[in-house]
Amino acid sequence: MKIPTKKLKDGFEMPIYGLGTWQMGGRNERDLNNDDEADILAIRNAIDAGIAHIDTAELYANGYTEILVGKALVGYDRSKIFLVSKVQQKNLSYENILNSCKQSLERLGTNYLDLYLLHRYNKDIPLQDSIRALDKLVEDGLVKHIGVCNFNKEHLAEAQSYTKNKIVCDQVHLNLMFREPEKTGLLEYCQNNDIFLNAWRPVGKGNLLENIPSVLQEMCDKYNKTPSQIAINWLIAQPNVITLSKTRNSAHLEENLGALEFEMDTGDIERLRTEYPNQKYISDAVPLE
Ligand SMILES: NC(=O)c1ccc[n+]([C@@H]2O[C@H](COP(=O)([O-])OP(=O)(O)OC[C@H]3O[C@@H](n4cnc5c(N)ncnc54)[C@H](OP(=O)(O)O)[C@@H]3O)[C@@H](O)[C@H]2O)c1
Repeated sequence: MKIPTKKLKDGFEMPIYGLGTWQMGGRNERDLNNDDEADILAIRNAIDAGIAHIDTAELYANGYTEILVGKALVGYDRSKIFLVSKVQQKNLSYENILNSCKQSLERLGTNYLDLYLLHRYNKDIPLQDSIRALDKLVEDGLVKHIGVCNFNKEHLAEAQSYTKNKIVCDQVHLNLMFREPEKTGLLEYCQNNDIFLNAWRPVGKGNLLENIPSVLQEMCDKYNKTPSQIAINWLIAQPNVITLSKTRNSAHLEENLGALEFEMDTGDIERLRTEYPNQKYISDAVPLE
């Protein structure tokens, strides 16, 4: 299938759904018992199913995930892939960012990234220096677009103030249960300032699907969709929101892709926003800062 895209007012366009790679190849370190071939195959299956947006990071499995992504991309037309990586929080100095990006490109087996993100805000390193490094990478053609992750709206605005390049997205924890970007006004800020909010953990690593609240079940019945499909669709139904999910399971991939091409009524989107129970206002994984 062709994954639909969303476009910012300035013309920048991204697929509304991408494949995440957290926990492929390991967590913070490489897991020698990991089934690497299964991860590579999962990425290739996702691309064959129409996914162009692949999200990874130097942090994942300490760089090893990028190696797996690089292997998965062999043989595909690079120009048709929207490849995203991130520089980790401890590496946000000017020199370290340039160095990290170079190493990510080597591991990924490519000579450019479509989007390069600061993984987390670092209060101990001047943001201006980090943004200057991102600008240099754009100038050198190693990175096409720049963005951030887990930034609150104040730091997002500050990041934008340091560059003529556009900060095209803030990648943050948002799903039916975790509402920090909604509560803090970050979502509204992105909508008002022509920035994508890329929601990670859309199915709560599967946990969101364990006890289905009645309002979610009602929507599943009404639209004849599964809880994952409603959870993903609820995100992409909102202006400026796109999302990405990790799966190495082909049935989950097919299910998640089935979330992309239907529309819920505005009233139902609003009901899920207000009536979904036990909402949390601070991320339990990576809070905004
Ligand atoms: N910038 C950041 O700080 C940050 C933080 C977290 C994540 N991310 C990015 O966002 C991506 C997505 O987030 P995530 O991986 O944490 O969470 P997620 O996509 O919500 O959850 C992934 C987990 O849910 C399972 N899953 C996926 N689809 C499913 C379905 N339809 N039914 C049941 N289980 C399903 C997967 O298992 P199977 O493999 O068995 O399908 C996997 O264990 C990450 O992979 C990463 O690339 C970024």
